Amino acid sequence: MHVQIMQLHGGRVQMKVYLDNGASTMADKRAVKAMLPCFTKIYGNPSSLHTFGADARKAVDSSREVIAKKINADINEIIFTSGGTESDNTAIIGAAKANNDKGDHIITTKIEHKAVLNAFKYLEKKGFKTTYLNVDKEGLIDLDELKKAIIDKTILVSVMHANNEIGTIQNIRGIGKICREKNVILHTDTVQSFTKVPINVKDDFIDLASFSSHKIHGPKGVGALFIRSGVKIKPLLHGGGHEFNLRAGTENVPGIVGFAKAAELCNSEANEKMKKLRDYMIEKIKKIPNAKINGSLEKRLVNNINVSFKGIEGEAILTLLNEAGVAVSTGSACHSKNLQPSHVLKSIKTPDNYIQGSIRITVSRFTTKKEADYAVKNLKIIVKKLTEMSPLG
Ligand SMILES: Cc1ncc(COP(=O)(O)O)c(C=O)c1O
Repeated sequence: MHVQIMQLHGGRVQMKVYLDNGASTMADKRAVKAMLPCFTKIYGNPSSLHTFGADARKAVDSSREVIAKKINADINEIIFTSGGTESDNTAIIGAAKANNDKGDHIITTKIEHKAVLNAFKYLEKKGFKTTYLNVDKEGLIDLDELKKAIIDKTILVSVMHANNEIGTIQNIRGIGKICREKNVILHTDTVQSFTKVPINVKDDFIDLASFSSHKIHGPKGVGALFIRSGVKIKPLLHGGGHEFNLRAGTENVPGIVGFAKAAELCNSEANEKMKKLRDYMIEKIKKIPNAKINGSLEKRLVNNINVSFKGIEGEAILTLLNEAGVAVSTGSACHSKNLQPSHVLKSIKTPDNYIQGSIRITVSRFTTKKEADYAVKNLKIIVKKLTEMSPLG
């Protein structure tokens, strides 16, 4: 196998192709440029009362305005955090604890990111009752099942906007409508969908939404949480009164500025480019023998391809693609060191002989057609070889 790839490249790796943008993205140079003055010029503490502090405060607040505008929120409804995980935890644990006087039942889905599922597990240990909604073959929840699951004691529903493994986009407005009618708080993890799928927190009846910068060509370790005005949250961290008393700790000013710049740079033109490339690759990958595309073809993130190959291991495909210079992941990044089949692929009932052979390919606006062709060419060779070697093939 190794020999064949090397022959293909004349004994050396020809290209380095990054197709794991669902795990993290290259920072946009313009976002990095916007951050730089925050290290050496605008370095005051945003809470300080002098001019240095005021300059840093201005940088944080204008970034807040950028994020708020993108989702039709008010400026004081956005708080900055250390990323998607913290936002999910703050939203779920914070809302559950702050609204426990109204009930102790919380609802989520079987295909959430671990940042949501493990926050639910934590709350179970604290005595909260939980319901995990099923999804259909494409990864969509059933709105009737949601309606039936909401009881008098339900205080919170958390449904991700788009899934990180298979890219399926939920009908968040339909979900929001049900939750608003039933007077239940709706949290949505929009870490993968932010800037790729329009979000309007008012029209979509969203109460809480999580965002992360490093999925959209911004820096790592920074994100945001939308908290609709009037929704009660108990902060996770205990400290100063930063971020409207909801998230203690001196703000990560460079990170916040880079995040806002990155968000500004995302647009529909870039989304269209990713979608075209995604569909181009899907068409080619579908033709590889024993390939099965997972998730919905229509309600799908513009940058996501998740494909399973019968009878072979996703880890083996990943390793050999990596040798050829192509980076992909198996399932989500969190699973890549874990041979357990993905909980998402299990939930959409991926057949047993396909479930271990899945890889996720996620493009970005910087991915070129040449890179896509190179990746697919190698994938074809690798799948063929592994299938021939496989006792199950
Ligand atoms: C859907 C989803 N939620 C949450 C997270 C966690 O975000 P962060 O890496 O910013 O903590 C991720 C990252 O993989 C994700 O894909």
